[in-house]
Amino acid sequence: MTSDDALHAHGARLYAGFLSKRGEKDSWPGDMQLAQRIRAQVPNVELIARNQRSFLIRAVRTLVGQYGLRQVLDVGSGLSHEPNVHQVAQEISPDCRVAYVDRDAVISANLAASLHHDDRVAHVTADVRDPDSILGSPEVRRIINFEEPVALLLASVFLFVQDDADPAGIIKRLVAALPSGSYVAFSQGTYDYDDDRRPVYNLTRMYGEGGVIVTPRSKATIAGFLDGAGLEVLEPGIVATNRWRPDDTETGLEADSCIHAALAYKPL
Ligand SMILES: C[S@@+](CC[C@H](N)C(=O)[O-])C[C@H]1O[C@@H](n2cnc3c(N)ncnc32)[C@H](O)[C@@H]1O
Repeated sequence: MTSDDALHAHGARLYAGFLSKRGEKDSWPGDMQLAQRIRAQVPNVELIARNQRSFLIRAVRTLVGQYGLRQVLDVGSGLSHEPNVHQVAQEISPDCRVAYVDRDAVISANLAASLHHDDRVAHVTADVRDPDSILGSPEVRRIINFEEPVALLLASVFLFVQDDADPAGIIKRLVAALPSGSYVAFSQGTYDYDDDRRPVYNLTRMYGEGGVIVTPRSKATIAGFLDGAGLEVLEPGIVATNRWRPDDTETGLEADSCIHAALAYKPL
């Protein structure tokens, strides 16, 4: 890591800081100032992050525990959070295999340090804007057998993929590589739930000031992505993360989510 890296605020580290019980103590120098300003202007930012992470965990439990999936491809995995996806999946079924992919090499290093040589888990540095680099990765292919149904997690990663990178085409390419019977858990920040506090409007502006470009998207746009990839959205449809098959840990209004969530199926 160069000093420039440390000073450049980064979406994954900001998100990790908002999720962490240690809060700013876990922030990197360049993130600290921006994180403090975001907390001041978006007082529910930690709840937004927790609701996102809780959706992801519930989706993995559903996919492994209810639908019987045994391999998970987590693209835009983020820094290691306890419990991480492989821990959630392997607690239900120890034979689960998980491939983590993130564009940030620092994240791969962080995951590697937390994995303790688990040969059912891989971490790969690749960019979702080049889906073939993920699908062709030997490490991904060591873990994921593309002849068997896959649980593909695209959780809060397309917020960071701008329209000119063709998000619809990327999702279509990834889903085309999966066999029928696979599932996609998808989430994406949106303006649709902004209330008077305007959390997403403020977050988008402040992330931009920190050099992180984010692209919130509407429910209709997300529905188009999933439909265009040949996926069927399962109940309850595309809803706020804290309205997606909630358990008693979920709290707040839709504006305390600010993120659309969906689980979709590739039909037989
Ligand atoms: C908000 S975090 C989400 C982490 C995790 N999926 C979750 O929902 O808890 C977004 C992650 O996407 C990663 N990311 C952003 N753009 C990406 C890209 N083009 N390719 C792969 N990963 C990307 C970031 O590095 C970051 O780790």
